[in-house]
Amino acid sequence: MADQQAKPDREPGPVLVVIPTYNERDNIEKIVTRLHAALPDVHALVVDDGSPDGTGDIADRMSAADDRVHVLHRTEKAGLGAAYIAGFGWGLERDYGVLVEMDADGSHAPEDLPRMLAALGDADLVIGSRYVPGGTTVNWPWHRQLISRMGNVYSAIALGAKVKDITAGFRAYRADVLRNLKLHNVASAGYCFQIDLGWRTIELGYRVVEVPITFTEREVGVSKMSGDIVREALIRVTKWGLRRRYTQLRDLFAPKPKAPANR
Ligand code: GDD
Ligand code: MN
Repeated sequence: MADQQAKPDREPGPVLVVIPTYNERDNIEKIVTRLHAALPDVHALVVDDGSPDGTGDIADRMSAADDRVHVLHRTEKAGLGAAYIAGFGWGLERDYGVLVEMDADGSHAPEDLPRMLAALGDADLVIGSRYVPGGTTVNWPWHRQLISRMGNVYSAIALGAKVKDITAGFRAYRADVLRNLKLHNVASAGYCFQIDLGWRTIELGYRVVEVPITFTEREVGVSKMSGDIVREALIRVTKWGLRRRYTQLRDLFAPKPKAPANR
């Protein structure tokens, strides 16, 4: 809907960077320090799913020492999507005008964020994209690159979305967009959460802009990517794509309403 699109002069307001963590003990402090070096005024919300390695305790210590750092503790590992929805809920209840998604492991460079936030002046969602000119990945294993490329190609075919990196996890949303996405009925638990929200945002007619970023594979800790996460994405995107085709066909063959009789 055109009237929901951002006006270029709309000042988005305070920024909350939501950082989901599961066993990121050796990464969390470093990434928040880098974030505040790049953007001293933003707040960070660590959403920890009860990491057994003590990430939550480190985040608590950081939060006690710095008003800009907040922590949301959840009791069990419930997936990236669920963690973000909880984090967004926390931020939307407060006064934040922009909610950012960023990984804890250093794959997303906080130094890229000022450029992304600047682009939000003229957009409703800014995606830090690996697949627009100037974007790239560093040290990413070939099988991850393949899954990622295939995920984007499949999403483009099934959903018709023109975004090059709809699976990307480095994003800045205007708070109003998230308020309108019906987050309570997002069931995507894993990384297909990113496709889900991107698709909903596009469907509502919001303006989505991709800004090139460099995605660097983590040096410490392990990825939580799994076969289940890929399967969930495949099944859901297929379902959304079929539903989209069905709606298109139905609209094509639906009998046109009869013209009112003039007598
Ligand atoms: N709280 C919580 N709960 N955090 C989680 C969970 C979870 O169940 N699973 C992962 N995380 C956190 C990690 O600790 C990390 O900070 C971030 O989410 C990303 O997880 P990784 O496991 O490092 O993701 P990745 O590098 O394999 O995948 C990245 O690229 C994908 C696109 O190809 C992420 O950016 C994905 O969002 C993205 O879709
Ligand atoms: Mn990672």
